[in-house]
Amino acid sequence: MSARRSRWAQQLAERIRSRRLTVGVVGLGYVGLPLAVEYARKGIRTIGFDTNTEKISLLVRGMNYIRDLDDSVVADCVASGTLVPTTDTSRLSDCDVVFFCVPTPFTTNKDPDISFILAAARDLAEHKRAGQLYVLKSTTFPGTTRKHVQPLLEEPRFRCGKEYFLAFSPERVDPGNKVWHTGNTPIVVGGITPQCTELACAATGLAIEHVVPVSSPEVAEMEKLLENIFRSVNIALVNELAQLCDRIGINIWEVVEAAATKPFGFMPFYPGPGIGGHCILIDPYYLSWMAREYDFTTNFIELAAEVNEAMPYYVRDMIIGQIARQPVSLRTARVLLLGMAFKRDVDDLRHSPALKVAELLRREGVSRVDYYDPYIPSVVLFEGTPQAETLHSLRGLRRAVLSRYHVVCITTDHSCVDYPLVAAASRVVVDTRNALRNIRQRSNIVLLGDGR
Ligand SMILES: NC(=O)c1ccc[n+]([C@@H]2O[C@H](COP(=O)([O-])OP(=O)(O)OC[C@H]3O[C@@H](n4cnc5c(N)ncnc54)[C@H](O)[C@@H]3O)[C@@H](O)[C@H]2O)c1
Repeated sequence: MSARRSRWAQQLAERIRSRRLTVGVVGLGYVGLPLAVEYARKGIRTIGFDTNTEKISLLVRGMNYIRDLDDSVVADCVASGTLVPTTDTSRLSDCDVVFFCVPTPFTTNKDPDISFILAAARDLAEHKRAGQLYVLKSTTFPGTTRKHVQPLLEEPRFRCGKEYFLAFSPERVDPGNKVWHTGNTPIVVGGITPQCTELACAATGLAIEHVVPVSSPEVAEMEKLLENIFRSVNIALVNELAQLCDRIGINIWEVVEAAATKPFGFMPFYPGPGIGGHCILIDPYYLSWMAREYDFTTNFIELAAEVNEAMPYYVRDMIIGQIARQPVSLRTARVLLLGMAFKRDVDDLRHSPALKVAELLRREGVSRVDYYDPYIPSVVLFEGTPQAETLHSLRGLRRAVLSRYHVVCITTDHSCVDYPLVAAASRVVVDTRNALRNIRQRSNIVLLGDGR
């Protein structure tokens, strides 16, 4: 810690060092609840805040709603009182360190919507006290922490780096990942002042194994966007090549596997029905929106979005092409979508490309679109419109049930599905994930990106 640290900085540093502090986590979703549990299970008093009363009432009863978390760990943290879930924002003043993990969606025009961050910051402004550290973790455009959050907190006698401390530290949790989780994934931290960075690194280090300091919140905000844009651009590249391979008659999956044998300079990405979730689809738009303010066009971001967002249309056309080969009209055809979550082994439906495929099929007049996804209990299409409809959900996959559909489309390759049964029992399978790669008998299988 630097020599000119304030009295408040010294006090907070000592609390962190001795682990006698209270941590607050605002927003207990896919990011916030695992983070809160990570602190609580290490014996650190943690208060979890959420505006969603259903989530809080589940947690108060020791019940978990995040698949990656162990139910018994959540129950133990709550029962022992190390994790206190609440909707009461006045308890923000009890916390020494507060992490903000609220949503950052986009508007219907795909502009950033930081209203959740601003609402949470206003709650904080009402209950703030000297000696606290605030760490924003929600993905957002560079400058959010300094230009939008700091002004809501700053007062003549409540100054950043003196009476309070503020940093940005992006989240990297990858739901469904069995190797990398909240505790062992390195985390980047950038504070408004060097002391803010030091304190935020120390507080983060209580729960996270590797902490990487950077020189400012803007660097931390931008590096998170780079991570997600990197994924978006590379997925778009392979999605485009999959379409080309379909024309040429080369199997893109084999091409990627072959390229991946290069031990340096190549990282495999795979095609699919499009991208979804709360990150890779949305975050690049945060930067392209900001770039416009600087008269700059982010060509890679725009092009990647265009290619990725066209994929559900491509998959729709593959399905309709397979219906057309059978003695059935679109109106009477039955289609089953296997996997509605946006990626394998998660229960997250947000912006899932499978939803888009279902909507596009219904718009084309396919009257029967059902789905099977053990992690998604119900799916509503055209939500909030007069045409809103709930898709029929299959409870289990049986041979007789599969054979009823004219096309079964694998939109998400959950690992719990019996794929040999799917291949054997279905009339036609459109496989957008190469889930049937180990199946020998392939005459009824149409694979995205292999040209057959
Ligand atoms: N989901 C991921 O895999 C992931 C990964 C890395 C980063 N992120 C980023 O982390 C942030 C959170 O994402 P998430 O997936 O956890 O979202 P989420 O929707 O699962 O959780 C957000 C929670 O915040 C709550 N909330 C909203 N406003 C609030 C307020 N004012 N006070 C208290 N609680 C409030 C919501 O009720 C919800 O429970 C986003 O910026 C996202 O881009 C997400």
